[in-house]
Amino acid sequence: MPASSWSPASWRNHPIHQAPRYPDAAALAATEERLRGYPPLVFAGEARRLKAALALAAEGRAFVLQGGDCAESFSDFNANSVRDTFRVLLQMAVVLTFGATVPVVKIGRMAGQFAKPRSSDIEILDGVSLPSYRGDIINGPEFSEAARVPDPARMETAYFQSAGRMNLLRAFASGGYADLHQVHRWNLDFVARSPLAARYQDLATRIDETLGFMAACGIGSQNTAQIRETEFYTSHEALLLPYEQALTRVDSTTGDWYGCSANFLWIGDRTRQVDGAHVEFLRGIRNPIGIKVGPSTPVDDLLRLIDILNPADEPGRLTLISRMGAERVRSHLPPLLRAVTRAGRRVTWVCDPMHGNTISTASRVKTRNFESILSELRGFFDVFGDEGLRPGGVHVEMTGQPVTECVGGAHRLTEADLGERYETFCDPRLNAEQSLEMAFLVAAELKARRVAAAVAVAAQ
Ligand code: PEP
Ligand code: CO
Repeated sequence: MPASSWSPASWRNHPIHQAPRYPDAAALAATEERLRGYPPLVFAGEARRLKAALALAAEGRAFVLQGGDCAESFSDFNANSVRDTFRVLLQMAVVLTFGATVPVVKIGRMAGQFAKPRSSDIEILDGVSLPSYRGDIINGPEFSEAARVPDPARMETAYFQSAGRMNLLRAFASGGYADLHQVHRWNLDFVARSPLAARYQDLATRIDETLGFMAACGIGSQNTAQIRETEFYTSHEALLLPYEQALTRVDSTTGDWYGCSANFLWIGDRTRQVDGAHVEFLRGIRNPIGIKVGPSTPVDDLLRLIDILNPADEPGRLTLISRMGAERVRSHLPPLLRAVTRAGRRVTWVCDPMHGNTISTASRVKTRNFESILSELRGFFDVFGDEGLRPGGVHVEMTGQPVTECVGGAHRLTEADLGERYETFCDPRLNAEQSLEMAFLVAAELKARRVAAAVAVAAQ
């Protein structure tokens, strides 16, 4: 289909998966109308800057760190939860920047990550069957008939909550909180008590020394924005298309359409059908976008998706988020990676080591094993190393809170510990300590591989 036939509403003529059925069509239309009149949440210039950063990551000259909740929740709308997740991301980013000596592109699954695809339309509990929970922007998590009815008013709540969360993130990113001189203070109390505290403090001290040296050379917060503030981008799965359509705007400086609910939007593994509504919507907006690439992705589909979503082969436009599972990454990723490389397509590959590693305990609690997560990351890095390519980044579900949702990690959380603080509304997240531990391991892996590659080049 030619690009000219695209409009913000053209997805409506395509088959759609995972779409809620709103019983009150008039209320839905009225909400969409109001949303269309509200200010955009992001500015097109930011999306363009992010695209340029992602283009560097495609070449291994930057590394993407995308992380946050599986599903944000309306009931968890407060400064602490935003700040704590933000600061763990900052900590992870300094670990990666320092350890791997590459700039880190920070993207939150935050300020809009409210819609969830579900593997089943129905949830059954004690013999009672109800429509599944689809994220707070659609229906409520409570197990009752009333809560599970899709309610368009939730879209407006999501919009206003996104604005509130984004405002705080922007204030933190540029208002002094993210100044590198604060690196010691980012340690959360419970991380300070963990086995990782010494490693982090050691790194923070080395950064302080470096900053001291640079200050003596005349480079500091007062004259260098890169030290004083950070760039932090927002992202979410573009699942609920009536909402995304209502927040689509023409950028006055270029005349192009942008999705203005977040800087970066992605298509999930369940909604990436080549002729589907989600692909149709995303192809017409100029933001950097992502596609989740699971083990069932046919090579031909992936190549067609790349053609449809990035016909001009624009660098930074398309990020492929591999989520194969630890068991399958070494067998399923190489054919896809080779086909894309052979086709000469420029994409940014990042690894989501979470979604292919979800398991159920004997008592039917969803969890993920920290070891499987690391194993998928190592497999991903190995696959890239074998092809002589540099990986673009990681995509993780994590939180700044000391939750007990994934087993393993420095504190050796077991299945028996899961009941202590299991708070996610959807998938199990890494807690602050596990997130930091993962960042140290990724930094070490990247560094070791860079050294190995340099040795190989020197030996030639
Ligand atoms: C997610 O990122 O929360 C998600 C549902 O992922 P996927 O589409 O890869 O299953
Ligand atoms: Co998830």
